[in-house]
Amino acid sequence: MDRELKDPEFDLAGLRRLFPITQECVYFNHAATGPMSLPARRAIEECIEVYSKRAEYDTDEYFSLVAQARSVVARLINAQPEEIVLTHNTSQGIFIALSNLPLVENDVVLVMEDVFPAVRYIVDNNLPNIEKRFVSFIGKDPVEAVKANMTGRVKAVVVDHVQFLSGETIDLERLADFTRRERIYLVVDGIQGIGAMEFDVSRVKVDFVACGGAKWLFGPSGTGFLYIHKRNFEVLRTQHSGWLGAPWPGFEDFTHWPRLYPDARKYEMGTRNIMGIRGFAANIEILLEYGMNNVQARITALRGHLRRSFEKLGLPILTSDRAPGSGIVTVGPLQDAKGLHRHLRESGIVVSLRDQYIRFSPHFYNTEGEVDRIVAILARCRG
Ligand SMILES: Cc1ncc(COP(=O)(O)O)c(C=O)c1O
Repeated sequence: MDRELKDPEFDLAGLRRLFPITQECVYFNHAATGPMSLPARRAIEECIEVYSKRAEYDTDEYFSLVAQARSVVARLINAQPEEIVLTHNTSQGIFIALSNLPLVENDVVLVMEDVFPAVRYIVDNNLPNIEKRFVSFIGKDPVEAVKANMTGRVKAVVVDHVQFLSGETIDLERLADFTRRERIYLVVDGIQGIGAMEFDVSRVKVDFVACGGAKWLFGPSGTGFLYIHKRNFEVLRTQHSGWLGAPWPGFEDFTHWPRLYPDARKYEMGTRNIMGIRGFAANIEILLEYGMNNVQARITALRGHLRRSFEKLGLPILTSDRAPGSGIVTVGPLQDAKGLHRHLRESGIVVSLRDQYIRFSPHFYNTEGEVDRIVAILARCRG
């Protein structure tokens, strides 16, 4: 029996039943894709029922489902619902943030050097006439990293909260205090942290956080959100705004067109992915029910157990043990990473292969028993 099941306070068996993947394999791959939960599946099936039998929701019901999802997201990060844009992925959120900043020609944007391609593609292709400077943040004090590149024209800093391969985490609280004082916008890709770690925007005073739903929030894919701190509403542009960025009371009167929302909601352009949004909200509700402090504590314990076990095996570990930890532990470089990854897959262990590295990313319903199973397989391979 897994150790945690003895803890009467924590119904791990009940939790695991919410995630059917736990019956199929040892899934340590949440930094790649989060598996669907039963509540999300049920919420989506309810939608399918409505769309197949009635073609659409009643207007009031539709808007209340959207509002409910928005407030669930807001609770997850301790924001206000009107600070949340429901998006399709992280990239869209980064795009909305950067293209609506009041930047002018020759302004400078500092971008974390080893961001995931999501940020990089948006920055490279959507900021004409803006100077981009790529800055190394990993293993450094983020404030010193920004200071070393400061000129009067630096207007925004863009970082990944958690580096997708190493799991290295940026101290956003400290960075945000600094950028706020200096009147520099801080734009964060939060997809590798939110859902695995507590994220409270009343403490971490970032301007924007873009987060896809597809990983630590269990999807479904094609969902996500952008948080915009309300202090920015007045100064932002109105690009990427559309007709559903306005509060339509219904869809029968087309003589009176409502004005756009004065807040983040104005960036929702048109007809929404309501099935995805329903599933997304159902998944976040699971996290809220268990409490992000508990979720983070469980992930931290599993991560510690993985790390210690890998150390005992003598595996090279890319992930530093600096606090605070994300949900990622990566080993490598390994000579035969590909072969080892294949062997793990054949043994029912799902993890990520990234070049010469293998990335392990447990969520809160994984167990120490599963860690031990992974370690036993690796020990046999190395022995
Ligand atoms: C740090 C990071 N950002 C973004 C993404 C994905 O971006 P998007 O949600 O736009 O597909 C990933 C992984 O796929 C990631 O690891």
